[in-house]
Formats: sequence, C-alpha cells, structure tokens
Amino acid sequence: MDRIRIVGGRELNGVIQISGAKNAALPLMIASLLTAETLTLDNLPNLADVNMLLRILGHHGVDHSVDGRRLGAAPNASRPVHLTARDIVDTTAPYELVSKMRASFWVIAPLLARMGEAKVSLPGGCAIGTRPVDLLIMALEKLGASIEIEAGYVHAKAPKGLRGAEIAFPKVTVGGTHTALMAASLAHGHTRIVNAAREPEVVDLADCLIKMGARIKGAGQSVIDIEGVARLNGASHRVLPDRIEAGTYAIAAAMAGGDVMLEGAEAGLLQSALDVLVEAGATIHVVNEGIRVQRNGAGLMPVDIVTAPFPGFPTDLQAQFMALMTKAKGRSRITETIFENRFMHVQELARLGAHIRLEGDVALVDGVDRLEGAPVMATDLRASVSLVIAALAAEGETMVNRVYHLDRGFEHLETKLSGCGAIIERLSGYN
Ligand code: UD1
Repeated sequence: MDRIRIVGGRELNGVIQISGAKNAALPLMIASLLTAETLTLDNLPNLADVNMLLRILGHHGVDHSVDGRRLGAAPNASRPVHLTARDIVDTTAPYELVSKMRASFWVIAPLLARMGEAKVSLPGGCAIGTRPVDLLIMALEKLGASIEIEAGYVHAKAPKGLRGAEIAFPKVTVGGTHTALMAASLAHGHTRIVNAAREPEVVDLADCLIKMGARIKGAGQSVIDIEGVARLNGASHRVLPDRIEAGTYAIAAAMAGGDVMLEGAEAGLLQSALDVLVEAGATIHVVNEGIRVQRNGAGLMPVDIVTAPFPGFPTDLQAQFMALMTKAKGRSRITETIFENRFMHVQELARLGAHIRLEGDVALVDGVDRLEGAPVMATDLRASVSLVIAALAAEGETMVNRVYHLDRGFEHLETKLSGCGAIIERLSGYN
C-alpha cells in the first residue's frame, strides 16, 4: 500500500490541468449498457474507480478498447475509450464487484430497461453513513418493475418492459436521478422526474443519452421530462471537467498561497465554492483557459458554509474547505446536510494541530496560527485530500497513509501538486 509524504510550507505556483469528472464518467460508462452499439467517451480520467467499473461492466458483457486496441492495465486518459455492450452476457451484479464501488449499483437501471431483469447486490457498508438505495428502488418500482430483496440482492423484473410514470423524489438524489434517467429513456411512454438532482453530472449524462437517441427535456432543472424510445444508438461524448477536482486545487492554492491556473476548469460548475473562497481571501479570475486562483501573504478569513445539493456548496468539497478553515483568523461553522457521519477527517486534522469541535452535523473550526506535520490516515476519498491540503500548510513532514482512497478520485495528485512547487512524493510498498 502506498503512502504520500508531504513537506509543508511551500507556495503553489503554476498550471494544473483539470481531468474529466469521475462522477460524470461513472454514470456515462454505465449508460453503455443501454445500447448494442458503441459508446465512445473522451476525457475519461485515469482513476482506480474508472478501471474498476471497466471490470464490472466487462462482467456484464461490455467490451472496451482504446483507439481500437484492447486495454492493458489502465486506460490512457487522453485517448477516447470505446465501450460496446453488443450482448449482455450476465444481468447479475455480484456482491464481490458492487461492494468495491457503490456507484456500480446503478447498472440495475440499464440492465432492467434493456433486458427486463436485473439482480444487483446491495452495496453494503460505506465509510460515510448508511447511504441507502431505497429511492433508486422506488424509482424503478414507479416505472413498473417488480422488486424483491433476497439474500442481499435487489432482484428487479419487468418482463414486458418498463412503463413511463411520475417519479417524485422526496429528497434530492444524484444516483436516483441517474437511475431514473437511464431507465425511463427505454420505458414505454412519458416519465416525469420531480425534485430531480440538478448537478452538472446529471446534465452530462442527459446530454450523452440525448446523443444516443433519448428524448429528454429539462436536465439541470428540478423537473425532467423523458419520452421513452424503443432503442438507443451509439454516440461519442466528452466527459465534462471535474468540478470537485478543480475546487480541491483552488482550495489548495488558497491554503498554500501562490498563483495557480486551473486549466480546463469551468467556473459555472463551482460558483458556490469560488464565492466562498473569495470571502476567505483568495483572488479568483475566470479566464478563457480556466480559473486562476491567487492568494498573497494576507491571512485567511473564517467563512461559514452549509452543504447543499447543486448549485449549493458541494458536500464533496466540505472536508477540503474545513482543512482551509483550520488556519483562518477566527471561528467558522461548517454544516453538513447531505451525508450523516461525513466528518471522519476531523480527528485526523486534529493530529496536525487543528481545533475543531463537532456538534451533530455542525463542525466549529477555530483557526490556529500553525499546523504541524504528523502521520495521518486517509479514511475516504474527500477526507484524504483534505489531509493533503492541510499538510501543504503544515510545518514539517506529514505522512498520509492508506492513499488508495485518493487514487479512486484524484488523477496524478502528486504530479499535479509537485508541478506547482509542493514537496510531495509517493512512497510505495508500506502496510
Ligand atoms: C453522488 C456522488 C457523491 C456525492 C453525492 C452528493 C457519484 C459517484 N457520487 O453520490 O460524490 O457526494 O452524489 O452530491 O456521483 N439517499 C437516500 N436514499 C437513496 C439514495 C440516496 O436516502 O436511495 C440519500 C443519501 O443517503 C444522501 C442523499 O440522499 O443523504 C444524497 O445522496 P445521493 O445524491 O444519492 O448520493 P450518490 O448519488 O450516492
């Protein structure tokens, strides 16, 4: 298992290329199950989660290649990946695969819509709370599927096909909206999704489905209308830039100080986070190439945030922003409304000298003058990168253990940061 060693105290200056969005790439790849023709995806990030999903899709019969060549160990991010589900060879997604990545549960929608049946393992435990799938199941039931839960598996059947219906989500769910979109695209008749997630990744999936022949209106708004079609075709689509990666490096630049150009980042996808960074004392310029983030020697101001569905402050940047606030001049209040138990980074940040008190879903962060490097443990994807951010501004050496979490979601993290002057390296072969 690898570790990451960081020596803090260096400013960040340079250019960071923003990768394709993991959270868009995953549902887009799953959408390849909807058609027998080839779906070509460009700008796929080279991440552990993407490679794992390629394996999972392969189990169902999806062939993948890069530029006509079968993939070796990892896809090259800069080249298009072709996904072809000519024949679905297995409609069961076993526990051994689904438990490795929650989002793979979403295969239930295209398998059911195309094959009339799917048996998918419940995802099981997850480091950030219970994360149920009841709303995804509700959406499929509304579309006429009969669902049985047996021995840890969700067995969904619709032998005569799915039928359009109104699906009103009682709370905003990204995965629920992805699932409903994919299933309704191949259902008979009209579907309306009410209280749909408005996240850019939902819009990206809808854009791709439309290229595949789906009839979808309103993606990006709370109500989405879908007119089902009998079949979908192949298409080519470019994965949108990763707003969470861009926001993470913007926060890192604000933390370390300096001047960083986030090439390819789209400000419109992370406006709420940029607004908060300006309040905290960073200077942000939106330019043609992307987003430029600067902070000179001036101190950081405390800012209160509340996580919310898009266009609110993303829960996936909460841990990173908390790391930034550990050095603000005063108290900030961070409220997590999306996931219970998403504060595992608090204890690890405390190891670096942060002062944080938890009161239910609120973290009160009292900024300190100095953080000090220490060994810390990565607990989940976003939490682990928050430790990297804190370490960039800590005195001395920080060793981040269990970095496989980082590899799930951040492409070439060490290279991108060291390219801007950070002292950061990966050490292989530790337990
Ligand atoms: C996606 C993102 C994740 C992000 C999250 C919220 C991917 C791969 N992951 O996760 O990075 O943090 O959106 O922006 O895109 N819920 C239920 N029942 C359900 C489904 C969800 O109660 O059936 C709850 C969840 O527990 C959570 C809330 O709804 O409290 C939002 O979850 P959801 O938007 O579904 O998150 P994911 O799609 O799993």
